[in-house]
Formats: sequence, structure tokens, C-alpha cells
Amino acid sequence: MPETTPRIAELKDHVGHTVTIRGWVTHLRSSGKVAFAVVRDGTGVMQAVFVKSAVPAETWERFKELTLETSVFVTGEAKAEPRAPGGYEILVTGLTIFGPSPIDYPIQPKEHGVDFLLDNRHFWLRSPRQRAIFAVRNEIEQAIHDFFYQRGFLRVDTPILTAAIGERSGLFSTEYFDEGNAYLAQTGQLYGEAAAAAFGKIYTFGPTFRAEKSKTRRHLTEFWMIEPEVAWNDSADNMRLQEDFVSFLVQRCLERRAAELAELERDTAPLERVQPPFHRVQYTDAVSILQQKGSAIVWGDDLGAEDEALLVADYDRPVFVMNYPKEAKAFYMKENPEDPRTVLCDDCLAPEGYGEIIGGSQREDDYEKLIHRIREEGLPEAAYDWYLDLRKYGTFVHSGFGLGLERTVAWICGLKHIRETSAFPRMMSRLRP
Ligand code: 4AD
Ligand code: MG
Repeated sequence: MPETTPRIAELKDHVGHTVTIRGWVTHLRSSGKVAFAVVRDGTGVMQAVFVKSAVPAETWERFKELTLETSVFVTGEAKAEPRAPGGYEILVTGLTIFGPSPIDYPIQPKEHGVDFLLDNRHFWLRSPRQRAIFAVRNEIEQAIHDFFYQRGFLRVDTPILTAAIGERSGLFSTEYFDEGNAYLAQTGQLYGEAAAAAFGKIYTFGPTFRAEKSKTRRHLTEFWMIEPEVAWNDSADNMRLQEDFVSFLVQRCLERRAAELAELERDTAPLERVQPPFHRVQYTDAVSILQQKGSAIVWGDDLGAEDEALLVADYDRPVFVMNYPKEAKAFYMKENPEDPRTVLCDDCLAPEGYGEIIGGSQREDDYEKLIHRIREEGLPEAAYDWYLDLRKYGTFVHSGFGLGLERTVAWICGLKHIRETSAFPRMMSRLRP
């Protein structure tokens, strides 16, 4: 059997054979005759065992040079060892130090404040907890693609530099040659609508930007959004798609990421309950419920984070709040024929106080009504000529929604703050690392 370089997660297939593990030292311990180094490689941890009487003297000496986060190649026979971190160990015969690590490595095994950890995000990512979060995030991203692929959606990548403003929240802008200002996309939706008229069922999955001056636990200035857009779906179809989609993502994490959810100490019982149908509440009823519960909300206001938490407290599954007042929502939403003060839309609120993870709506398909709304909002009409064309040449019933990836990861992982769901989060006062 030739020497191989498996990843730690693959060690189970190499028991009894000589392997080389390449990774970083996370713990060290020595008793004089036997020494241990725990090594991490991104797939897990394993224990390297150095027996003084069994290794060359120079290898024994080299062990003493190891420090936290030294990068190493350790060679030896792989063994299952239930008492070892990760369940496997290597009886070391060879050690190469690839990259020494000075003893002032910033993250030590003690409590650090979150600002310090964020300043050292490039190192903080190496912790087991962060690995668990990113494994869940990756599972969700893969599940998103699987869900839409299985249902015949085309993925369409929409531009990040745009001239048409999509949402009401803050804009990042930059000069764009002789064309004036370009904005960083707040949404891919408007382009998604054009693509839906071309391809029927589409989704976009990309970074979106909001210059929000809000320091909350659920706002980033750069986040990823998944935005399906479906020709001939009305608002009711749209919500059915949302509940199927969200349930699929949650169930997939429960099936495939149990170990990571356990690492995060996530109580999975509330996640097990995430199955269709979700609860449906009309906005107007939500306002009455909230007022009875002591909220200062009045008809016309958007729901704040506290209102959302107050409302979902009564429910065991996600909740759709439907048909908000026009003035609380974006210009493109379709007027509700049953109550023209409102629009055909929904926010999907996650349980356990997490609040809005999706904003969705049926789109205004009437040319006159849409142009009226664009003018009412004071938006630059010329930038929307192509968008209006979609209502002029073969207008169509269509609906879609946007799921915030980071908010979804925070909820499924049970995190208090959204910042840990992004490898390098961008917030009002954070642009580095
Ligand atoms: O409700 P929003 O603003 O909806 C749209 O952008 C629509 N164009 C979507 C569509 O219909 N295609 O944003 C959708 C979701 C929110 O529910 C939230 O999950 C997330 O995007 N989101 C944010 N996530 C992190 N930080 C922020 N600043 C966010 N703003 C919105
Ligand atoms: Mg919203």
C-alpha cells in the first residue's frame, strides 16, 4: 500500500495503513515519554501520537517546536481510537514542519470579545464552530440549486452594476464612465422578471448590496439572495413555492448536517416542525393581533423586528404575513383587487423570533398602474423603460420572492447574530479583513 495523503474525514478508510496528514496544530500535550498533537485539516481533527522510544530522536526534538497553528505533515500508521479527538490517531514516524507559527497567535483558548474575533476573522474561521456554520451554509446553497434544478428552473445570473433601483433601502453608487451613476444591485428581481418572460421559471443567486445605516443583528450591507421568478404564478402559487422551498432546505440540513447542528448545540425540534403548510395571516389581522399584544404599530407601518418576533411567538411554524399596505412596500407589487389600499405580497417570517427571511409578491402586470407607481415613488422613469416594456409586449401574470441566505443560515444554525454566517461580513463599520 503506497503512502497516501487522505483528508482527516477519510481516515476511517485507511486504518492499518501509513498515511500523511497535512494540517494545522490545534492542541499540544506531552508527558515526557509520549506526546500528542491534535491536528485539524478542515474536515475534522485527529490525534498524532509521538512515542519517544519509537520515533527518531530528531522527530522527538521537532515536536517541541510545534505551536498552536503550526502547519505540519505528520506521517504514520492510522488507528481507530475512540478516546482520541475525532476518533482516529496516527502513530507518528515522521514530522515535517511546513509553516511555523509564532507563539503570539491571536486566538488563544480563552474567551475573546466579538470585535476582536471579527478583526481576526481570517483566523476565527479556523474554529470548529465556524466550520460547522459554513458546512451548513454550503449544504443550504447546494440544496437551493438542487431544489430548482429538479423543478426545471433555469439559473440566470443578473448584473451587479445597475441603473435601475429595485428596493427602497440605501444605495451604493459609483461613477460609470459617461453613463452617470451605477448602483450596486439591491436585488436581481427586475432582470429576473425579464428572464421569466423568456424562460418561464428562473432563479437568480447572487450578492446584493444595501447601504443600510442599521446596526442590527440581521442586517449586512452585502448579502446573498436567491430570487425565483415564475411566469403564470399568482400570489397563492408563490407562497406554496416558498413553503416547499424553505421546508426542503431545513429538512436537507437535518438529514445531512446533524453533526454540525450538534456542534452548534442547535435544538432541532423546532426545525423538525418546518413542513408545509405554513401559517397565513393577513397584514390587517396581524396589526390587530400586535396591537392587542401591546405593539405601537398602526395600519400602514411595516412590521419592525420586534413586531415580527411578537407575532411568530404564537406559531410553531413559519408564518406568511400577506397583503401589506402599498405605502409599506416596493413599487412593483401588484395592487390587490379585493383591497386596492394593499398589494399582493407576503413576508415569510421564521419561527423562534428570527423574523423575515423572505419577501415575495405578485408583480404589477398592468402598464398604466406600474408607471403610475414609478412616478408616485419619484423613481427615474427612463431607467425603467425596458422594465415597462415587459408590460407592453405580452404582459403576463408572474410572481417571485427573495430569500436572504445569511438570515436563513442564522436561523437554521440558531445563531444570535447574522455576522457569523458570512465568511467576511460587511457591515456599516466593517470593511476589513
Ligand atoms: O424583502 P426584500 O427587500 O425583497 C427584495 O429584495 C425583493 N426584490 C425580492 C423578490 O421579490 N425577488 O429582501 C428579501 C430578503 C429579506 O427577506 C431578507 O431575508 C434579505 O433579503 N435581506 C437581508 N439580509 C441581510 N441583510 C440585509 N440588509 C437584508 N435586506 C434584505
Ligand atoms: Mg422585505
